[in-house]
Amino acid sequence: MKKQFANHLLCLQHEYKDVRLSLVPLHIVNDNECIEGFLQCSHCETIYPIIEGVAIVVKNFSEYIQTRTSSYGKWLLKTRTDKMKGFLREASKYLKLSQLGKDRYEEDGVWYAPYRWTHYDHESTDRLLSSLRWRLKPNELYNRVIHGLNPKMDGMALDMGCSFGYSTLTLSRKFAFTIGIDLSFSFIKEARKRMYEYRQGNVEFCVADSLLTPFSSRKFDSVIVFNMINLIDASKLLDTIHSLLKPLGYIIIADPFDFNYEPQPQIRFDSQSFRELLKNSRFEVDDKTDMKESYIPWILKVSERTYLFYFVDFIRARKISKHKTG
Ligand SMILES: C[S@@+](CC[C@H](N)C(=O)[O-])C[C@H]1O[C@@H](n2cnc3c(N)ncnc32)[C@H](O)[C@@H]1O
Ligand SMILES: [Zn+2]
Repeated sequence: MKKQFANHLLCLQHEYKDVRLSLVPLHIVNDNECIEGFLQCSHCETIYPIIEGVAIVVKNFSEYIQTRTSSYGKWLLKTRTDKMKGFLREASKYLKLSQLGKDRYEEDGVWYAPYRWTHYDHESTDRLLSSLRWRLKPNELYNRVIHGLNPKMDGMALDMGCSFGYSTLTLSRKFAFTIGIDLSFSFIKEARKRMYEYRQGNVEFCVADSLLTPFSSRKFDSVIVFNMINLIDASKLLDTIHSLLKPLGYIIIADPFDFNYEPQPQIRFDSQSFRELLKNSRFEVDDKTDMKESYIPWILKVSERTYLFYFVDFIRARKISKHKTG
């Protein structure tokens, strides 16, 4: 984590108060990159770890590692300082052995490789891509949606559920500073590697929950949510985004509304019912994206012989302060 990023982060334990976190570095490289350390709250003493350069700002760390035992094992081996090893051992005391699980979006999970392929690893010689009549890029969704946004070069943007961060890095060309968050440690670690490869200075990533973010209200000019509506309580998500946006800030959503893979789906939305939800959540849907659904191609490669081809809808909506009457 870049040292200055600590200035953006708030403690998650105080619902009605903004309490900033301060950085306690344990291992710093190149003067600015904190590889290992803690973010500490001076009010309640809660500490949030920074491991392998990734800040993990979640409310309950023991609960977080419950479905990430493979990452946890690696951290225990790889972390450099006794302080961090001590923190990790302490957190493991609260693990519920009967409820250990495996997150689908971590390195050992089923969705890790498909997203790496879509964001970065696809090649035009790929069997499916090369047999299509038109040249189609699996990640062109992100470019097409972000390309249409007006740049706000003094603005702040947030990419929720950013995965490998291709969308976040694309977005950062339009804003002064862009933050990508995801619950997957493995995704954020890789997204940060790309951030350095692409030498993109005005961006940072951290592990955080989109329903409980470590950011102050009215911080962002735009929040984008790509392909995530099936995984989350959509109504709560919109309330959170409403409070994170500045007045008249924009939410950008691109989603195929595919609820087929969720063991316990939330309410199933489609293009129309989601637009209704937005309007009921104090957003005004942009005329262009209200009148007409989009059909933007997006491809995931699930295995050597299996692909998921989606047509993704795109909606842009503006925060309004009050419900419209009449
Ligand atoms: C279907 S993937 C989409 C990823 C990316 N937006 C894209 O379009 O390629 C959903 C992502 O949301 C993340 N995720 C799920 N629930 C989350 C939450 N509550 N907060 C933050 N990220 C979450 C997952 O780890 C995963 O990376
Ligand atoms: Zn606190």
